[in-house]
Amino acid sequence: MIKINKKIEFKIAADGSSASGKTTAGKLIAKKLKMKFLSSGTLYRFCALKTLENKNSYNEKFINKIANSITLKKLQNKKLYSPEVAKLSSIIAKKPYVRKALKGFQINFIKKSKLVVVEGRDIGSKIMPNADLKLFFTCSTKEKAKRRLKEFKNLNENISLKKVQKALIQRDKEDTKRKISPLIITKNAVLVDTTKLTIKQMEAKLINLVKNSIKKKYGNL
Ligand code: C5P
Repeated sequence: MIKINKKIEFKIAADGSSASGKTTAGKLIAKKLKMKFLSSGTLYRFCALKTLENKNSYNEKFINKIANSITLKKLQNKKLYSPEVAKLSSIIAKKPYVRKALKGFQINFIKKSKLVVVEGRDIGSKIMPNADLKLFFTCSTKEKAKRRLKEFKNLNENISLKKVQKALIQRDKEDTKRKISPLIITKNAVLVDTTKLTIKQMEAKLINLVKNSIKKKYGNL
């Protein structure tokens, strides 16, 4: 049995494509092991939402202002999960000044937290290259679309499975093909395919993995 105490420092980078299960996984790990959690996608979504509210117009000055106004509370806004915001977030995420503006928030959050899980696209490669554990989530496109559709339904968004799947493929393409901080599998990342896993199975697998990895770092606690 491993006891997570305050002396332990353990930082997890969880990357993967859209709807691959990294947010659910990250939240579960964080809850179970009393770690802090950040979904970095919400930062890009927040800038996208503010851009939409600004008649779809943005520039470096505007993004810097928005980035400086971000708080954890503001990142809980349900509006961040609409299809329009999702689409625009991966478009603005290609801009170097957007990534630069949002890096500070992530670095600060990671510095402040000894036990932390951060999920996104470039966490293991750019934001936390020295993470104690790097996870890379994958999932079949069909299963991802089904999951996202369910989430949209819960938010009362009326959209077809076909449209959801098309938008996911497009966003994954934008994220893997972009020049700056593309979604890549880092050398030392552990691959987690969530296609056939139930949430309970995924949780058991990951908690085991994290605990073993903490043991490796600290020995038996
Ligand atoms: O993970 P989520 O779907 O919330 O992310 C929304 C968008 O934000 C992604 O499609 C991606 O373009 C961008 N993003 C990013 N880097 C991250 C997290 C998200 O470019 N670390």
